Amino acid sequence: MDTDFLNTTPELVVTSDGSHSLRFPAVGEGYHSVHGAMSEAVHVYIAPCFESQAKANPMVEVLEVGFGTGLNAFLTLCKSMEYGIAVNYIAIEAYPLEEKIWSRLNYPEVYKKLYGNDLGLDLETIFQNLHTAEWGREVEIRPNFRLTKIRGMVQEIALPANTFHCVFYDAFAPQYQPELWTADLFARIAAAMHDEASLTTYCCKGDVKRALKANGLKITKLPGFANKREMLMAVKN
Ligand SMILES: C[S@@+](CC[C@H](N)C(=O)[O-])C[C@H]1O[C@@H](n2cnc3c(N)ncnc32)[C@H](O)[C@@H]1O
Repeated sequence: MDTDFLNTTPELVVTSDGSHSLRFPAVGEGYHSVHGAMSEAVHVYIAPCFESQAKANPMVEVLEVGFGTGLNAFLTLCKSMEYGIAVNYIAIEAYPLEEKIWSRLNYPEVYKKLYGNDLGLDLETIFQNLHTAEWGREVEIRPNFRLTKIRGMVQEIALPANTFHCVFYDAFAPQYQPELWTADLFARIAAAMHDEASLTTYCCKGDVKRALKANGLKITKLPGFANKREMLMAVKN
């Protein structure tokens, strides 16, 4: 599959829960489910992966493959404040969005509508700070939430061993980027995971399951978001 689309500008779309997402009309691929970008992110990454690790660890190390709109980092920060735990969040992104795109995303506003804001956080500033944080450097976004955004291809970036409790595997689908779903790449991701760490992804393809299993990860199929029957959780033990 031609990946030229990754160098084009995606268009802004409104998904079913009111939250924005981005799509590449030429190929029909998007950043999130059209049935609700924020609801999908909570369903696939925050609830099964981050929240379960947050209950077991006072400090959670997160690796995200594909920072994109910053939605997962934003939700993780909000949840970490609720749980009162510390987070070290490493996000890898090969094609960072331009400010003219991320500045239009409505995540702070939709978050308040869907989940409230009992802690009175300045969500607009937080979201902006996630995006303006310098690349390649650890930045304290809030006390107890450190972010390092790494600009580059995940296939080419050295990862620390036995470190991450959560892996948010949020790459474009295998039909568009098969190179991001290989057993070789998952071997490197698995080596970077802590014991009992979990990786979640919206993708439930047989080849992906086999590539994860080949690296000793235990696979559980969970109900998928909206019209998707299944999603995957892979645990290292
Ligand atoms: C499905 S989108 C999800 C992004 C993000 N998690 C979000 O919620 O907006 C996939 C992301 O992976 C990024 N990406 C594509 N190829 C990559 C690569 N080789 N290494 C790291 N990131 C990549 C894309 O630019 C895009 O931001």
